[in-house]
Amino acid sequence: MNIQKLLNDTLDNSADSYKSGHVATYIPALGKVDPTLLGITYYDLKNNLVYSAGNDCTPFAIESISKVPVLLLALEENGLKNVFQHVDEEPTGFSFNSILNMEINKRHYPMNPFVNTGAIVVNSLIPGKDSAERFDRILNFMKEICNDPDLTLNEEIYHSESQTGNMNRSLAYYMKANDMFKGDVEDILDSYFKQCSVNVTTKDLANLAALLANGGIAPWNNQRILREENATVVKSIMVTAGLYDQSGDFSSHVGVPSKSGVGGGLISAIPQKAGIGVFGPALDKEGNSVAGIKALNFLVKKLNLNIFE
Ligand code: DON
Repeated sequence: MNIQKLLNDTLDNSADSYKSGHVATYIPALGKVDPTLLGITYYDLKNNLVYSAGNDCTPFAIESISKVPVLLLALEENGLKNVFQHVDEEPTGFSFNSILNMEINKRHYPMNPFVNTGAIVVNSLIPGKDSAERFDRILNFMKEICNDPDLTLNEEIYHSESQTGNMNRSLAYYMKANDMFKGDVEDILDSYFKQCSVNVTTKDLANLAALLANGGIAPWNNQRILREENATVVKSIMVTAGLYDQSGDFSSHVGVPSKSGVGGGLISAIPQKAGIGVFGPALDKEGNSVAGIKALNFLVKKLNLNIFE
């Protein structure tokens, strides 16, 4: 199989689908991104080779995909048991910024680490005396697991997130009122907004996905970065909650552990086989990349990567 040709075909097949989506505008700086951009990187674990096509070097905001690295860091620092005392592992059936699921179900904890409530709580579990210290650890960890020492904070996105993040503020104050996390609300939100505003490329994301797919051992240097049990748990939550209330449909039709972000990124970690990073900024109504999902669907079928088959 000529993977490079397959990636080019994948992008050709998906290029027009941005027309049925829209870039996120609730964070104004995201609204300026060109919706026609499309890039993909495929990390082949069997042969330890990386293939890339399209806008694979264009930096974009990691957004909710950051919930994967920050959960991994929290797990490495605190252990599985301690983290999952503060956040559950259930799909919500609600949008990523919904307050309803906790209110209706009278939950004591957020339902999973990939909705905003869960991610804010997970951020609060990162050791550090304030936002600056927590974010410093997060950024350094992201550099390590993406194998990219040049990752930086996108200041424009960060300020835009912070200025318009009132829904996240209501979620965080609701949780604080119910004693769901320790620390100062605005300080925790600040490091949450920053974790979402790190610039990445599809190459960075494919490295992260390949590390997860490889059970926590970095395929680029054979060093263990993550405990295997942490990589396993995170992949399983990606299956049940990685694409919010589209996770069930995506799992039954595409069938690979994945996580999306409103910056237009998607990662897929296919155990022992591959890590994939995709970027297509136009989103569907659930907040997932339209072209990204189409591209993944195409590629996964061509390479028989569905983990349930
Ligand atoms: O908190 C927010 O709303 C954004 N910073 C991240 C949301 C996001 O990426 C949801 N994913 N599809």
